[in-house]
Amino acid sequence: MRLGVCYYPEQWPKSRWREDARAMRALGLDTVRIAEFAWSRMEPAPGEFDWAWLDEAIEVLAAEGLSVVLGTPTAAPPQWLVDAHPDVLPIGADGRVKPFGARRHYCFSSPSLAEATRRIVTAMAQRYGGHPAVVAWQTDNEYGCHDTTLSYTPTALAAFQRWLRARYETVERMNEAWGTAFWGLQFLSFAHVGFPIGQPTAALPAHALDFRRFASDEVVRFNRLQVELIRAHAPGRPVLHNFMGLFAEFDHHDCAVDLDIAAWDSYPLGHVDTAASFLSEPERQLWGRTGHPDMTAFHHDLYRGVGHGRMWVMEQQAGPVNWADWNALPLPGMVRAWTWEAFAHGAELVSYFRWRQLPFGQEQMHSGLNRPDGALDDGGLEAAQVRAEIDLLLERANAESLTTRQAPVALVVDYPSLWMAQIQPQGKDMAGFGPMLAYYGALRRLGLDVDVIAPDAPLDGYAMVVLPGTLHLREALVERLRASTAIVVAGPRTGSKTERLSITEPLPPGPLREWLPVRVRAVESMRPGRTVAIDAGVHGQGQGMQWRDLIELDPEADAVKETLVLARYEDGAPAWLTRGRFHLHAGIVDEALLLRWIGVAARDAGLTPLDPQALAPGLRLRRRGEFLFAIHRGPAPAVVPVPDQAIPLLGSATLAPGAVGIWHLKSGS
Ligand code: GAL
Repeated sequence: MRLGVCYYPEQWPKSRWREDARAMRALGLDTVRIAEFAWSRMEPAPGEFDWAWLDEAIEVLAAEGLSVVLGTPTAAPPQWLVDAHPDVLPIGADGRVKPFGARRHYCFSSPSLAEATRRIVTAMAQRYGGHPAVVAWQTDNEYGCHDTTLSYTPTALAAFQRWLRARYETVERMNEAWGTAFWGLQFLSFAHVGFPIGQPTAALPAHALDFRRFASDEVVRFNRLQVELIRAHAPGRPVLHNFMGLFAEFDHHDCAVDLDIAAWDSYPLGHVDTAASFLSEPERQLWGRTGHPDMTAFHHDLYRGVGHGRMWVMEQQAGPVNWADWNALPLPGMVRAWTWEAFAHGAELVSYFRWRQLPFGQEQMHSGLNRPDGALDDGGLEAAQVRAEIDLLLERANAESLTTRQAPVALVVDYPSLWMAQIQPQGKDMAGFGPMLAYYGALRRLGLDVDVIAPDAPLDGYAMVVLPGTLHLREALVERLRASTAIVVAGPRTGSKTERLSITEPLPPGPLREWLPVRVRAVESMRPGRTVAIDAGVHGQGQGMQWRDLIELDPEADAVKETLVLARYEDGAPAWLTRGRFHLHAGIVDEALLLRWIGVAARDAGLTPLDPQALAPGLRLRRRGEFLFAIHRGPAPAVVPVPDQAIPLLGSATLAPGAVGIWHLKSGS
C-alpha cells in the first residue's frame, strides 16, 4: 500500500525542488510521477535533447528515497512537431483541425507522430531505463481524454480503409457484413468508404461499429509501440497507462494486453457532476461532496480486471477539480476515505493529483495536496493521516494476509457492447454506464465483493456471473458459460446483437437460447417517468422503467416445462424468468426489485447476501485478504454489520459520513 503524488518539476523554480522532495517524504509519500507533458522540455528541437533538468529532478527525488514513475510525454506534442508535420493534428467530428495550444492534439493514425514518438520514447528509455529510482513507466496520459479517440483526418481515413481491407478482403464481403442492401448503400470499393459521420442521418450501424473498432485498434497500436520501446531499454520495470473513469471509447482490455498494471485516474466528485446521463439531480446533490458509493469502487474493480489483477490509482482527487460544471469541496474525511476505498479494492498505490496547486495555466483552479502558497491543504493533511494508518495496519498485516482474493461474483464488461448501445441506444438512457452500474451497485448493496472481468476471462471459481446487458455475447464467453457451473444473471438486451451489430438469428437473447427457451418478440423503451408495474409474487412488487424485452416462451421446446416465470409485467409479459442456473431479467427494474432478484440468484449460488436494509445508504463493505473495510458516504451515521469475531483496527462499528472502518477477520468469519 504505497502513497504517491503527481509532480511537475518543470512548472516550479529549481530552488523549490529539494524542499518539495523533503516535504513529500515527510508527508509519507514514497512514489512520484513526473514528466508526462514535458516533451518540449526534453526535446526542444527535433532530435536535440535536454536531459539536464530531468536528470536533476530525478536525482533530487531519489536523494529523498522517493521512487519515480516516468511518464512518456506524447500527450503534448511540441509545436515544432505539429508545424513540421501538420498530419499530427487531429480533426474533430465538425471537420475542424484541433490546433496546438492545449494537449492531446494528435491523431493516433499519424505516421509523423509515430516516428517522433519512437524517437522521444527511445531516447528517454535509453537514458532512464536502468535508473534505480525509476521504478515504473506510464505510457502517454489518459488516451482518448478530451474526445480524442476518434479523429477524422485523411490519414485516419486511409488507415481505416486499410483496416477494412484486412478485415474483409473484398468489398463484397464488407457490403454483405454491413448489410448495405439497406438504402442501397453498396460501397464500390474500400477507397469509397468514408467516416460514418456527417451523412444526413445515421450511417450504417456496422459501419459505425467498425470505425469504433478501428479507432480502438489504433490506440492499442500506438500504446504497443511505446511499450515495446520501453521494454527494450527498461527491463524489469512495469509499464502502465492511466485510464479514465466513465470512459469506454476504446477497448481497455485489448490495450492492457501489453501492460503490466492498469492505473486509473479517480476523480469521484468530478465524475458525479458529469454523470448527468444516469444520475438524477437529487442523486448528484446527495453524493456531490462524497462521490457516488459505487462509481469509484466499480472502476477499482474494473481496472483490477483490466490490469490482470494489478491496479494503481495514478491520480487521486485531493480537493476540488476544475473541469466539472460545479466543483465541490470534498466532505472532510473523503480524501482519506477514497484512499482507503482504493486499497480495499486492491490498489497497490494511490497517487494524489497534484503536489501543489499551480497559480497559472488551465488548471490554476485545480487543488493539490498543497495550496499555491505552499501550506498543506486539507487533502494533504488527510494523506498524512492515511500514511500513519497504513503503518498501523501493516503492524498487523503482511503481504499474504492483505492479498486480494478472487471475488465470488464476476460482472462482465464488454467494450464493443458498450459501443453498440451508443450507436443504437433505442432508448436514450440505455447507452453508457448506467445499466451496468445498477447491477454492480445492487451486488455491492448486498455486501458482495465483485470482480469486473473481460468477456474472454476465465469463469472458474465464480459462484455467480452477471451479464449486465452485454449486447453481444462472443463465442469465447459462450463457451466459458457452458463450461461453468455458476449461476448466471443476464440483464435486458443480453445476447441481442451479432458481432456486426444486427439482430441475432434466431431471435434474441441469441446464444442464451441454449439455456432459456425464450424469444424476445419485441422491445420497448420508456421515456423518463413512464413505468410499468411488475408483480414478482413473494419476491415483491415494483416498477419497470427505461426498457423491456417482451418475451415469449417457445412452446415447442421441452425446456419450457423447467422454466419458471418469477415476475410479470402488468400486461402479463414475463419480467424475470429462470431455468436451471440461468436467470433472465427482461427489463430495467427499480432498485428494490433488483436487490431482491439478485439476492435470490446469489442465494441460489450458495452465497449469503446481506439483507438489503443491512447497509445504510452510502455504506459499503469490501474484503481484502483477511481484512474487512467499511467506507461510509453518509448522509447519516451508519452501523456496520461487523462479523462476530472480527477485531477492530480502525474506526468503530458506527461510522459518521466520510468515515472508514477496518477489521481483521478471523478465518471463517
Ligand atoms: C486528468 C489528467 C491530469 C489533470 C487532471 C485534472 O484528466 O490526467 O493531467 O488534467 O485530470 O483533474
